[in-house]
Amino acid sequence: MSAQVQSRRKTVRDIAAAKGATPLVCLTAYTAPVAELLDERCDVILVGDSVGMVIHGLPTTVGVTLEMMILHGQAVMRASKQAFVVVDMPFGSYEASVEQAFMNASRIMKETGCQAVKIEAGEYAAATVRYLVERGIPVMAHVGLRPQATNVDGGFKAKGRTDAERDRVIAEAVAADQAGCFAMVIEGVAEDLAADITARVRCPTVGIGASVTCDGQILVTDDLLGMFAWTPKFVRRYADLRAEIGKAVDGYASDVRARRFPGEKETYTLKKGP
Ligand code: KIV
Repeated sequence: MSAQVQSRRKTVRDIAAAKGATPLVCLTAYTAPVAELLDERCDVILVGDSVGMVIHGLPTTVGVTLEMMILHGQAVMRASKQAFVVVDMPFGSYEASVEQAFMNASRIMKETGCQAVKIEAGEYAAATVRYLVERGIPVMAHVGLRPQATNVDGGFKAKGRTDAERDRVIAEAVAADQAGCFAMVIEGVAEDLAADITARVRCPTVGIGASVTCDGQILVTDDLLGMFAWTPKFVRRYADLRAEIGKAVDGYASDVRARRFPGEKETYTLKKGP
């Protein structure tokens, strides 16, 4: 063993310790270069099924496959050393039965080497959370606005507008917590509901469009970098990469058309061999 200090990956214990403490910093990554940049800056990297919309141009996350999640999970794991990496279980890979969920979750864990999976946990999914956790698979739950259910909801709609809907979100959060999830994403709810859930559950909550009252925050990295013309209300853009990339490509295109690129500096001058 070398005397060098080994950087170790965060574990479920580190994530659990964030309950009521310094907020967890969580972001999405789908590729090796982005994972490498996020690794030392984030507690949790989520290989979200948002990859379908962000990278593959799908209209929703419903079309994302297990193979896509595994491929992107492998890229993120190769490029990260210390962040806790969670891979989303895509629509259709865990809802049919607890056995189906275990088969596919264990495949994700084995083939990517990630630390946990995430499932969109309606109350019905509590049995799945318990089944996976008892068999060695840490589960992050996802409650509130569940993007995989947008076909039932009629779009991406914030949750908790009626008492009945509010009670349903609380019930799904409490059920997932009692079933043993180590953390939960709360998406698209008002501040009072997020605060209520955060106070009720034992595990840390990670908000996206769910106010500052959660135990951590997550955003889609491409949203905060300003890669899209439109972003939801809850996104804060920390950069305008869309404009930067546009400027860079315009510069390249006009240089190519005017034969200013490649120049002398970018051109090989090879000595002739014997
Ligand atoms: O798929 C995803 O990126 C997510 C986050 C937005 C929480 O589930």
